[in-house]
Amino acid sequence: MQLKNVKNPANALFTERISIRKYDPSVKISKEEMSAILQDAMTAPSSFNLQPWRFFVIDSDEGKEMIKPYMMFNQLQWETCSAIIAIYGDMENYSYADKILSANVDNGLMTEEYKQKMLEIMMAYGASYTEERLKNSIFMDCGFVTMQLMLSAKSYGYDTNPIGGFMRKEFTEALGLDAKRYIPTLLLSIGKAAEEAKDTVRFSVDEITEWR
Ligand SMILES: Cc1cc2nc3c(=O)[nH]c(=O)nc-3n(C[C@H](O)[C@H](O)[C@H](O)COP(=O)(O)O)c2cc1C
Repeated sequence: MQLKNVKNPANALFTERISIRKYDPSVKISKEEMSAILQDAMTAPSSFNLQPWRFFVIDSDEGKEMIKPYMMFNQLQWETCSAIIAIYGDMENYSYADKILSANVDNGLMTEEYKQKMLEIMMAYGASYTEERLKNSIFMDCGFVTMQLMLSAKSYGYDTNPIGGFMRKEFTEALGLDAKRYIPTLLLSIGKAAEEAKDTVRFSVDEITEWR
């Protein structure tokens, strides 16, 4: 089997998401709608439900001008999109374990006893992490939320393009973030498509799967 264009109409949720790089620049997304898109995406799973993702929605003219020099070869998306969403990971995610667990208790989703047990397990587990392991875990969680963000945007009628090609250090400095705490994972351009979607190929299952 060879690389092929994969389309299963039954899986429209997956196949309708496709990278768009040229958007209608006149389209603005309201803060309310953007918040709804983000909130829906945040149903994503994360390690211990610590939700380490942090979003920076850059949709003002000033904000976009500020990040322009760091967009590398992704100028078309920058120029035409309604917003660039920067997805960062918070390396101090374990510091809000108590807050999240307490909210579970407040919402009747777990008992105080269970919360204390979980907190102990989580903090011991977190303490055993090397920085690299923590970073990997945060990258994975941010990947999940970014995938959902792309699908969420699509469900609100918008298109996206994940962008890994940007100057991370400079971008983070421009946002005024503590680079030790906040790690840049990916940018996402979002807007209304102004070009035909270009299909891409995928490996066949046989090429990349082993059955044992
Ligand atoms: C981590 C990551 C980084 C990417 N970086 C860029 C980028 O810098 N510029 C770009 O135009 N597309 C970028 N893409 C989009 C991929 O090229 C695209 O997803 C892939 O070719 C498949 O096409 P599709 O998204 O239309 O299905 C990136 C995708 C991922 C997942």
